[in-house]
Amino acid sequence: MKKIIRVWDLPIRLFHWLLVLCIIGSIVSVNLGGNAMEWHAYFGYSILTLLIFRIVWGFIGSTHARFTSFAPNPKSILNYLQGKAPRVLGHNPLGAMSVFALLLVLSIQVVTGLFSDDEIAFQGPLAKFVSNSTVSSFSVVHEWNHLLIYALITIHIAAIIYYKKFKGEDLITPMISGDKEINPSEEASYLPSDLGRASKDGALQRGLALVLLSLIGVVVGYLITSS
Ligand code: HEM
Ligand code: HEM
Repeated sequence: MKKIIRVWDLPIRLFHWLLVLCIIGSIVSVNLGGNAMEWHAYFGYSILTLLIFRIVWGFIGSTHARFTSFAPNPKSILNYLQGKAPRVLGHNPLGAMSVFALLLVLSIQVVTGLFSDDEIAFQGPLAKFVSNSTVSSFSVVHEWNHLLIYALITIHIAAIIYYKKFKGEDLITPMISGDKEINPSEEASYLPSDLGRASKDGALQRGLALVLLSLIGVVVGYLITSS
């Protein structure tokens, strides 16, 4: 019989798909320009809120959401590349590196956006607090860092297609349903301890996540509107 194990809690799944929507929104709006720059900022503030939530959830969230459960080290990466590592329910060491890289470049993008100026009609809400040369520097980083984001997203999606096509591993369904289905024939490729580690995803975790996200949203909203 198949083992069905909850890996991605609802907060992680919502974080992921809301992040995807907001990034699409921020890219579409910046390309429209003009009045749509307001929307670029709103999508950016939403991404800022989501990122802060994800970072906090990485410390207090369920098993597979925690950074400590998937933080890679040189040995785990080497073992994984040499095919010596057991399969894992959560992020594998390479996937984990891409998660950390994505969170980092996205954080750089939102923070620099707050201090950027398009030199037409729109500036980030914190630009007025720093010198013109600082605004220029942040705007340059904001302009170039987006290419890094595009590159990492392309690698992210290519890796997911690669796992499906060449390794027969469907990573997308669990990011939607939350569950991984393990066939009896696959069980031996996992560590038994890993198969016993489901993520808690009950009303308590979801309630806590909702309170946390709302709180972060209010603080970000307050800081943006009061500056
Ligand atoms: C704007 C584009 C995207 C960004 C910025 C992004 C970002 C991320 C991040 C940060 C994670 C880590 C989740 C966590 O632990 O918090 C992740 C995981 C994941 N993403 Fe995306 N993602 C994007 C698009 C997509 C798309 C289009 C798909 C589906 C085709 C997808 C499928 C997945 C899957 C399956 C995982 C889990 C990977 C694993 O099992 O290790 N992502 N993504
Ligand atoms: C992850 C979130 C974000 C993404 C992906 C993103 C992406 C971009 C891109 C692609 C550009 C055009 C760069 C160019 O070629 O000139 C841009 C410009 C800009 N963005 Fe963002 N941005 C994000 C967040 C923010 C935030 C939070 C703000 C703050 C309100 C912001 C404010 C600006 C401004 C003022 C510009 C014009 C800067 C210039 O022309 O040099 N962005 N952004």
